[in-house]
Amino acid sequence: MLKPRPKEIAKERWNSEFAKRVNYDIVYDDWLDSYEKEIKTCNSPIIDLGCGAGNNTKYLLEKGKNVIPCDFAETAIENIQNRFPQVKKAKCFDMTNGLPFADNFTDIVIADLSLHYFSEDTTYNILTEIKRILKPNGFLFFRVNSVLDKNHGAGQGTEIEKHLYATEDGRQKRFFDKNDIETFWQAWNLIDCKEENMDRYELTKVLWRCLAQKVS
Ligand SMILES: C[S@@+](CC[C@H](N)C(=O)[O-])C[C@H]1O[C@@H](n2cnc3c(N)ncnc32)[C@H](O)[C@@H]1O
Repeated sequence: MLKPRPKEIAKERWNSEFAKRVNYDIVYDDWLDSYEKEIKTCNSPIIDLGCGAGNNTKYLLEKGKNVIPCDFAETAIENIQNRFPQVKKAKCFDMTNGLPFADNFTDIVIADLSLHYFSEDTTYNILTEIKRILKPNGFLFFRVNSVLDKNHGAGQGTEIEKHLYATEDGRQKRFFDKNDIETFWQAWNLIDCKEENMDRYELTKVLWRCLAQKVS
């Protein structure tokens, strides 16, 4: 029998994680406050790419925004539909197969801790897809693991590519330094990029919080 691939292992893990989180509190931290102006003036649906439990979806709904939560874990999308019945367009798809939206669809894509699981080629393909669905001058708000995120596996496991590690359970996790961010987002206007601590989890997480703008 063929060994399951990292993506299949990851999908199964996320599906079982969100199956357990049916009645959990959905809590967000304040990272999107930094982008209040861009969010306030956005009139198109905002894509929450890799929405998980829906922390950012909840934040945006409370700001009165139209949100499309997206994830490849069916259980995450089921939870979102139960918890936020006002959301009519949650979408279940694997972002490594492209994004099922038209060109120039939206002004804002949010990818919170969902872009750091992929090989270099796949990461570039996803970024190209995000660019395609963004309107001219549209924004990508994202957070990704930092190489300093020791509490959450930085530098642990087998390094498959520079800063991409195979975890013990067969998944993949990337950790970024400043140079990685500048390289992956070189075809973007990287407006803001800060390394900071996040305390939404039991153990402090070190991550990059960034705002990138589409340039054609
Ligand atoms: C660390 S969680 C972050 C969830 C949420 N954005 C947050 O910040 O709480 C990563 C999310 O990315 C999703 N994800 C991972 N790989 C994906 C893929 N290939 N396509 C779509 N979603 C994916 C997972 O299912 C999970 O919900």
